[in-house]
Amino acid sequence: MIKSSYDLRSKTYDEHMKQIKELEKVISFEKENVEFCIKNAEMRGCCLDLGCGPGTTTDIIAMLNNIERVIGVDYDKNFIKYANSMKKSNKICYVNADCYDLPFPDDYFDSCYARYLFQHLKYPEKALDEIIRVVKNHGVIGIHDIDYDLVIHAPKVKYSDRIKKINTRLKAYYGSDMHIGRKIEQLYYKTNKLKRIRVFKTVTNSVDYPEFKELFCNMSNGDLDFLLRNGLFTSHELHEHVESVKAFLNMPDSFYQIGNYFTYGEVFK
Ligand SMILES: C[S@@+](CC[C@H](N)C(=O)[O-])C[C@H]1O[C@@H](n2cnc3c(N)ncnc32)[C@H](O)[C@@H]1O
Repeated sequence: MIKSSYDLRSKTYDEHMKQIKELEKVISFEKENVEFCIKNAEMRGCCLDLGCGPGTTTDIIAMLNNIERVIGVDYDKNFIKYANSMKKSNKICYVNADCYDLPFPDDYFDSCYARYLFQHLKYPEKALDEIIRVVKNHGVIGIHDIDYDLVIHAPKVKYSDRIKKINTRLKAYYGSDMHIGRKIEQLYYKTNKLKRIRVFKTVTNSVDYPEFKELFCNMSNGDLDFLLRNGLFTSHELHEHVESVKAFLNMPDSFYQIGNYFTYGEVFK
């Protein structure tokens, strides 16, 4: 059974390393946002970093004073292996496990942070129930995730809306939700086990980080090829898109921004 869009990606070693490098690059721009959220939510003690990937978020959490220990969990063995090889603090340990079935007793953690995990989950409510099971009463749960409608290009890149629509539908087909950010608050209320729920919107943009534009505007050759092979774009349209991206990147005052929702609440069970 497919429980996460990640199940559908069979990756070669090179693809894996490319994804790791991309995640590390993105987090280098978002470090301050991650720290801000974790500190404001008053995350503390033994913290679960769920869907930790290469461990870049785990490293940030481990640096914070209120955190005694962080356990990074990911169901992809390759990420866990890589994260272990890059471990920067002895407060950290990594466990290979599925977020729907965590190998921890009830009430084990004081806090849980999950960034960019829920967008991939087919059953987000089940994953949230499992998190609530392993987090203590009065512990804090914070979910940080994307909302595609907070993405802004100015001026618009040619065909960017069409590409966004295709991307959203494709991700939905594979079980991902590119608008999960705005939906987490309702998921929290539905559990009846989370109180003092609060939501922040965090943005990362090219005003603060000019190199950020480049990272997000250039589609890979594989993605361009996908659009062509599946008849979603003609080669002429793709050429127009690529040229428009180049012009955008060369424009000194062009603007690019992504936005996430950070939703946190205290466990009352
Ligand atoms: C986009 S990455 C985010 C990594 C990291 N949290 C960050 O912000 O850089 C999503 C991660 O979720 C993991 N993941 C997806 N489905 C999962 C599941 N069912 N259980 C545990 N991890 C899962 C993937 O393997 C991947 O490492």
